[in-house]
Amino acid sequence: MFSRISEVFKKAEEGKKVSVRGWVYRERTSGNLRFLVIRDASGVLQCAVKKDKVDEKSWKGASDAYIESSIEITGTTKKDDRAPGGFELQVEKVHLISRGEPFPISKDLSEEFLLDVRHLWLRSQKMTNIMKARYYIESYLHEFFDKEGFYELAPPIITKSQCEGGSTLFGMDYFGEKAYLTQSSQLYAEVFIFGLEKVYVLAPSFRAEKSRTIRHLAEYWHLEPEMAWYSEEDNMKLQENMVEYVVQKMVKEHSDLLEACGRKPDELKQVKTPFPRLDYEDAVERVNELGGKMKKGEDFGADEEAVLTKEYDVPLFVHNFPKDIKAFYMREDPKKPGTVLNNDLLAPHGHGEIIGGSERIWELDELVTRMKEFGLDPDGDMKWYVDLRRYGSVPHSGFGLGVERLTKWILNLDHIRDAIPLPRTITRCYP
Ligand code: 4AD
Ligand code: MG
Repeated sequence: MFSRISEVFKKAEEGKKVSVRGWVYRERTSGNLRFLVIRDASGVLQCAVKKDKVDEKSWKGASDAYIESSIEITGTTKKDDRAPGGFELQVEKVHLISRGEPFPISKDLSEEFLLDVRHLWLRSQKMTNIMKARYYIESYLHEFFDKEGFYELAPPIITKSQCEGGSTLFGMDYFGEKAYLTQSSQLYAEVFIFGLEKVYVLAPSFRAEKSRTIRHLAEYWHLEPEMAWYSEEDNMKLQENMVEYVVQKMVKEHSDLLEACGRKPDELKQVKTPFPRLDYEDAVERVNELGGKMKKGEDFGADEEAVLTKEYDVPLFVHNFPKDIKAFYMREDPKKPGTVLNNDLLAPHGHGEIIGGSERIWELDELVTRMKEFGLDPDGDMKWYVDLRRYGSVPHSGFGLGVERLTKWILNLDHIRDAIPLPRTITRCYP
């Protein structure tokens, strides 16, 4: 019977015989004493192998082991303040499972090299901590929507519809016809509300982003809720409640993991609703007051978002953007014509946009007119979307959250590529 390393520490008993299995994380020899630090998915454990206390095969196995060799070890626990976790294993038996070759990753390697060997680098403490944290973030998102009475549904990934404009579409040949990898599942989420009212989708979205930035991936995981009967006001409330829920759960349940990833839990404790809001026009003025150079009618770039969010410790809503710089499906604000009922949610301290949301155009004539203005054919490949407004249409809203953007902010990561195990970017589709 093998114990998980975290279990060995949990019991914290001295003189207990245990077997663990995992990979060699550190190794060091001092005469007839060999130290192997073993890691499994739950933690690391220092093991001391003394030549005169083990059989010949065990000593050879321990001596031969490289960093990342896989190994099984049996021994007795002993308190030792110098060992990680305060325990050491006094080894009785070693079984080298796969010695393998010398591991190619050592200290001080370039980011590019680590990306080339990402399939191996994912074993590092840095990456395993981030991946654990991402898993918890996603679980709390699911938990939130479950509590709110939403249903999760699966959309198609291959589509003939374009949601976010033609410039970032990945095209493909679909049995002789032109199709695309989806940019957003929103339009399909809108289909689902007519049966289930409150739904969400968690699926990959694809963007042929031509730029190389610290916040753009070509393939990312997109959480997209869509709600019948919700106004843009209801929509923003849902977004802030969701963000508060996930962040506070992480602080409460996983503060050690947050620390290990480089985020001080106290910084996140302040993330409480309601989040501040700025109208687009006020936001542009604010950027310019703070030294930016923006004209009305332009969208915020990374620099402008950084300037704008510098003063905040919580995410900031920017709402009511000019209608011409936003997507075709956003409803014009009857109280502020020329602007749409939409919002971006910007994470503090320059982490940038994590959510884009809006109330959708729900009346048939308005949608047809707007689609034509955008050069989209209401009777073409998106006729099905227009149809939704033909049969019992209702006011509705929704939003899209980038899971890696949220993870990047919560964990305070330098680059979005570390928020996903195997990143796809303009320069990388390997491994
Ligand atoms: O603002 P976007 O483009 O909005 C939509 O796609 C809407 N259809 C969503 C909806 O209303 N259902 O994208 C939404 C979010 C952004 O706020 C950002 O977090 C993330 O998706 N995102 C990206 N994440 C990583 N890499 C990229 N290239 C991203 N593009 C957008
Ligand atoms: Mg956006």
